[in-house]
Amino acid sequence: MTSPLPGHPHIAYQNHASGNALCIEGQPLAALAQAHGTPLFVYSKASMLEALAAYQRGFAGRKAQICYAMKANSSLGVLQVFAQAGCGFDIVSSGELARVMAAGAVASKVIFSGVGKTRAEMRHALGVGIGCFNVESTAELEVLNEVAGSMGLRAPISIRVNPNVDPKTHPYISTGLKGNKFGIAHEETLATYQRAASLPGLRVVGIDCHIGSQITEETPYLDAMDRVLDLVDAIEATGITLHHIDFGGGLGINYQDDTPPAADALWHKLLAKLDARGYGQRQLMVEPGRSLVGNAGVCVTEVLYLKPGEQKNFAIIDAAMNDLPRPAMYQAFHHIVPLAPRADATTLMDVVGPVCESGDWIGRDRDLAVQPGDLLAVLSAGAYCMSMASNYNSRGRPAEVLVDGAEAYVIRARETIADQLRNESLVG
Ligand code: LLP
Repeated sequence: MTSPLPGHPHIAYQNHASGNALCIEGQPLAALAQAHGTPLFVYSKASMLEALAAYQRGFAGRKAQICYAMKANSSLGVLQVFAQAGCGFDIVSSGELARVMAAGAVASKVIFSGVGKTRAEMRHALGVGIGCFNVESTAELEVLNEVAGSMGLRAPISIRVNPNVDPKTHPYISTGLKGNKFGIAHEETLATYQRAASLPGLRVVGIDCHIGSQITEETPYLDAMDRVLDLVDAIEATGITLHHIDFGGGLGINYQDDTPPAADALWHKLLAKLDARGYGQRQLMVEPGRSLVGNAGVCVTEVLYLKPGEQKNFAIIDAAMNDLPRPAMYQAFHHIVPLAPRADATTLMDVVGPVCESGDWIGRDRDLAVQPGDLLAVLSAGAYCMSMASNYNSRGRPAEVLVDGAEAYVIRARETIADQLRNESLVG
């Protein structure tokens, strides 16, 4: 019998000779953990492609480019899946540019976001021939004009508008409100476009907005779209043509009782608005990150110790905040499930890592029946986990495996202490 976990069509308990075992695309996670050690990130290629297919369905018959926001998971093997599926990429650094090029990206489908692009990063991106710079300030506009001019080039740009819309998400991942550091204020956009159009080193190609991440409601998107289209009306009335409109990323996933719209359902509504306002045939761009990879990955971890206490029980696992930073950073919830469920009664416990900080918890007040040596899966770990992992406490970052049907590819070897020490030296 197979029972997929809700929201995870390719992650399911399957009956094996030894009992019920959590599998990804039919492969027992315990076998992968045994072969590659823990903590271990495991991704399902089929899940990624299904998440992408929801966007592709939503845009059927339209001119649209999906640019995977690779900050969500920038491992080469993951990038390769999206490059092969025809995606472009949203990047925020020279390092990300080097990664997507190594993964086989088409440079003209790469867009460069971020508030602090350096001159060297601009030169790198211009040299490669990326499709668009999403410019976030007037100061950046002037510098980009100068850098492109010095290379005898014209930089393709779009201006990131801050529409001042509340995405109703965690404050650390809201980006489209007035108090945020991102984008150019709505009121200043027209003047900024006029300035951009007058600069010889720039070529205006589009407009861009991104209001936040883990958005689970439709209304902020619909509101932001109205605000952006009002600007497009005003900008084009001055004779500046915008070749594309980029609506950013931000669509949430189900971590715990979250009910984000499906990408195709959301775009059905957004496209109706675009049609109604006469922009249905315009080239569209989106920059989804989390919604393409978040629920495609799990982190497999071993229970090291149980530590019962008067006020709290703890299960100490071998994954920590350096591997899974979201709970510590955003009080984020990730489901934690056993790979081989026990029949024993469950106990309420905090699931914590070995790092020397009280903030190093992965799950609080979880009802679990576990023993030392048991393996657990931390779910929804495909986005913003490995890409945000660090070496804190001199812990090596985990290995990563990408499962594709019967195949399991190690897309990143476990980081060794030699890897960590490579760039360091003693003083004398
Ligand atoms: N485009 C831009 C300009 C962005 O800043 C972001 C994310 C995206 C696209 C992709 O957004 P997504 O579709 O993944 O929501 N570390 C946080 C999330 C930070 C998001 C930053 N920007 C977390 O773990 O929740």
